[in-house]
Amino acid sequence: MLAALVRVIDPEIRRPITELDMIAGVEVDADGHTTVGLRLTIAGCPAARQIERDVREAAESVAGTGRVSVDVTVMTREQRRAMTEKLRGGKGARTSQFGPDSLTRVYAITSGKGGVGKSTITANLAVALAARGLRVGIVDADVYGFSIPGLLGLIGPPAPGSDKGTAVKPTQVGDMILPPIAFDVKVISIGMFVDDSSVAVAWRGPMLHRTINQFLTEVYFGDLDILLLDLPPGTGDVAISVGQLLPQADVIVVTTPQPAAADIAERSGVVARQTGQTIYGVIENMAGIVQADGSVLDIFGSGGGAEVARRLGHGQETPVPLLAQVPLSVPLRSGGDSGLPVVLGDPLDPAAIAIQAVADRLATRARGLSGRSLGISPR
Ligand SMILES: Nc1ncnc2c1ncn2[C@@H]1O[C@H](COP(=O)(O)OP(=O)(O)OP(=O)(O)O)[C@@H](O)[C@H]1O
Ligand SMILES: [Mg+2]
Repeated sequence: MLAALVRVIDPEIRRPITELDMIAGVEVDADGHTTVGLRLTIAGCPAARQIERDVREAAESVAGTGRVSVDVTVMTREQRRAMTEKLRGGKGARTSQFGPDSLTRVYAITSGKGGVGKSTITANLAVALAARGLRVGIVDADVYGFSIPGLLGLIGPPAPGSDKGTAVKPTQVGDMILPPIAFDVKVISIGMFVDDSSVAVAWRGPMLHRTINQFLTEVYFGDLDILLLDLPPGTGDVAISVGQLLPQADVIVVTTPQPAAADIAERSGVVARQTGQTIYGVIENMAGIVQADGSVLDIFGSGGGAEVARRLGHGQETPVPLLAQVPLSVPLRSGGDSGLPVVLGDPLDPAAIAIQAVADRLATRARGLSGRSLGISPR
């Protein structure tokens, strides 16, 4: 029976319920009637119905089992504490899951200018990586202008009297926050903690730092292969906090093809490097569109991505690659507006193809400490 129940996965925590101590016991009475005791993590758990159904099906699948009933209770505070403790692997609540011994690859998506497509590219990259079987999370570190929940369709029905839905709320289990999941990507965003998405969040540096730190410590991502951070534009407080909290992060700089934008894009890379991060590469977005007659229309000029890559690689041991040139694309834009990323909704679109090529590249260096600075330098 336990072997069958091991296959029941908590859809929010993404671990077998047996590991989470959610099975209180299994009893079979004289008539062959099986009762499975199921302990939910919290009362009103959004996944309760699904877990109950899965438990019943698992129990019924065991040969020779007669009638099955599921006796649902809720964990005591003590049991919940023991469970969250276990999930953290004995680390305290205040420790980052992405510390120096973590094997998760962390990429911070940054840019100098705003509106160059960081969030759109982050959302699509994440979904494309998850579709390749990797365990992926996104931290939307753009606390002022968060847009990841909308890009991934994590928007609930509108509240009465409003025409706009608000971001899906994470489930909280004790002091642990479970990130909502979209297209197999675990997502956390400040947009999930404010009630009206039109409210501008005006925060000062220390509070930003605390919020991002909280995302990295209290949100349960589990063991991820890749964590993507969507940064706000520019080289402000958030970029510096990320540099301090995740010095092992690699940075991907997004820029437009305009050569004039190269200066400011370069600056965002330079600041990242000053906080100890490595620049993994540059993505040029909003590149030219191929027209019906085969000619390319460079609305935003051309060459900006290559120029930024060249400048950031200058004087470095290894050159900084231009990872992709993502063309202007109506499906990419509309997929963002509707919450269905283009890499899934229209995978043959040229912008989708360009982003998937980056995903392929990231997927091949999925995990591990290799290539990471050991903090020692050769003489
Ligand atoms: N290649 C593209 N083709 C067409 N539209 C695009 C493309 N890339 C992004 N967009 C659109 O441009 C707008 C800005 O994109 P996005 O929000 O991803 O940029 P951002 O860099 O995250 O902005 P911010 O600096 O405000 O965080 C969005 O409406 C998006 O749909
Ligand atoms: Mg953005």
